[in-house]
Amino acid sequence: MSDADVVPVKPEIAAAALIPRARYDEMTARAAAAPDEFWAEECKRIDWMKAPTKIKNTNFTGDVSIKWFEDGTLNAAANCLDRHLAERGDQVAIIWEGDDPNDSKKVTYRELHEQVCRLANALSAQGVKKGDVVTVYLPMIVEAAVALLACARIGAIHSVVFGGFSPDSLANRIQDCNSVALITADEGRRGGRKVALKLNADEALKSCPTVKNVIVVKATGGDVAMQAGRDVWYEDVTAAASPAHTPAEMNAEDPLFILYTSGSTGKPKGVLHTTGGYMVWASFTHQYVFDYHPGEVYWCTADVGWVTGHTYIVYGPLANGATTLMFEGIPNYPDTSRFWQVVDKHQVNIFYTAPTAIRALMRDGEGPVHKTSRKSLRILGSVGEPINPEAWNWYYRVVGENRCPIVDTWWQTETGGILISPLPGAIAQKPGSATLPLPGVFPILVDGEGQRLHGATEGNLCIADSWPGQMRSLYGDHARFVQTYFSTFKGLYFTGDGARRDADGYFWITGRVDDVINVSGHRMGTAEVESALVLHPKVAEAAVVGFPHEIKGQGIYAYVTLVADAEPTEALRKELVAWVRKEIGPIAAPDVIQWAPGLPKTRSGKIMRRILRKIAANETDSLGDTSTLADPGVVTDLVDNRAG
Ligand code: WT7
Repeated sequence: MSDADVVPVKPEIAAAALIPRARYDEMTARAAAAPDEFWAEECKRIDWMKAPTKIKNTNFTGDVSIKWFEDGTLNAAANCLDRHLAERGDQVAIIWEGDDPNDSKKVTYRELHEQVCRLANALSAQGVKKGDVVTVYLPMIVEAAVALLACARIGAIHSVVFGGFSPDSLANRIQDCNSVALITADEGRRGGRKVALKLNADEALKSCPTVKNVIVVKATGGDVAMQAGRDVWYEDVTAAASPAHTPAEMNAEDPLFILYTSGSTGKPKGVLHTTGGYMVWASFTHQYVFDYHPGEVYWCTADVGWVTGHTYIVYGPLANGATTLMFEGIPNYPDTSRFWQVVDKHQVNIFYTAPTAIRALMRDGEGPVHKTSRKSLRILGSVGEPINPEAWNWYYRVVGENRCPIVDTWWQTETGGILISPLPGAIAQKPGSATLPLPGVFPILVDGEGQRLHGATEGNLCIADSWPGQMRSLYGDHARFVQTYFSTFKGLYFTGDGARRDADGYFWITGRVDDVINVSGHRMGTAEVESALVLHPKVAEAAVVGFPHEIKGQGIYAYVTLVADAEPTEALRKELVAWVRKEIGPIAAPDVIQWAPGLPKTRSGKIMRRILRKIAANETDSLGDTSTLADPGVVTDLVDNRAG
């Protein structure tokens, strides 16, 4: 990497930054030398009911136990609301921008507090208790934030399921954690279309006997069926409930939420986050990575259905008393200028989005961007997948007019918040690199045997010690937690990502090294898509891999072997794509289906995915060693009949 590709810290940003370079170096050294003292200080950013005296108690070996601030008590919702009332009760907490550009509203901290208290009381009145799980299946409306905070307020564990997931996916995620209640809406709105959330929920609930109560937000006013004795309107129960509520006193290690994410096997994993460490991490990272100054308008374009929405739309910004923008729509509706129009309309200072959105907008050229001013923008962020230098440069030059630093933030559902990212006032950027770890984060690279690698090199990305925001377990399956994250490399948290480290110590994430693919910044397990495909009566076998996709980063490439009497027609191809959409959701729909009379397998029957990935990527002249295949002829056929 030549010096020409380094974008230095701007003096004017550094001068006003919360963390200039000297402070970053000092904090990094202190967090490494004395983590207990460092986090004992840093955790004071949260209001504790009882301040913790035990700070770090973590062990990555054996049964793996991760505890932070374990004798402290707090309430996450009170940290996001009550503690701001005296100083900024009338400040806007949430700016909501609807799918329709004529639809927006502002909710102050006082108003949000009242709504949350009402819903907390309504949930309690239904019998929802501390430790119960409440599933949330909502569009991007203010009530989604209210739902999360109301659960947190009474000590119920929320489990948000992205509104784009199918009835089956929703049902699986309800059954896995035995949730007792569901909060949903009549319909969602996206890009001028409606999403039938309540209809999907009704379908899912047929196989979810644990759910006793359903609260339905009237979001569109669409006509939906309400089941007497089970379904109630959000508007009715909150109107009837008291606007006063005393937040539950939670232990730092009490669960705050479960969030399902895809793994390398078929069954989604219920990532479990607890209260104290997560809140400290959400607040710490939101403030420092985005250099958040009081009064600024901050916008993260994610959906609350993903961890980015949890940490960087709701908990982080609200814990910090920020004004957070929630957007119901999509980047290209009504047109591809929408993001920048919203930036101007609400005078957004900090803007955080995904590379896939940037790449999609790039295709339309600079015109739609130039139509807007964007003068309010100060910091830009990227998350979800590696950002290719071309997209980085366009984001920097066209959107930010060479004025705004880009924070390329690497993290995962499991990490709770950002672990590797430039701090805008401290770290020079290199387009495509997430750069350096935050203070208190210890990333290392290891080879296939777990040997630690030093200097400029490439390897498996592991984290050598715990940080407060780390996941604590997989809900109901601690053994799978240990197996998935701590057994590949003994004593280390394994991220599942590969990375390169350059001579400056900068990290360049190269992508997943397991059977997980990253489609438009969303994680998808290849096994999940395969399981959905083989459910179809005409499919005998399926193998799914990722392939480079211009907009999505990675696309989904499925090799399908049909049952003996099925015809490989264009109609069947379409039917299978629609089938996966219905089984899992639109994000899982294969981009390419190739008919495969046979799949490349070893003599022991294991599918050689390495070869399938090469064919999908059209790198057929570098297939590598095929000598261990049971039938090498299979490969020739697949190469000759490449699809897409
Ligand atoms: C995976 C985690 C983090 C919230 C959104 C996705 C990839 C994420 C980056 C980045 C390169 C990135 C990794 C990671 N990833 N951010 N800045 N540069 N890769 O959360 O669904 O849990 O996925 O997303 O592969 O492991 P997730």
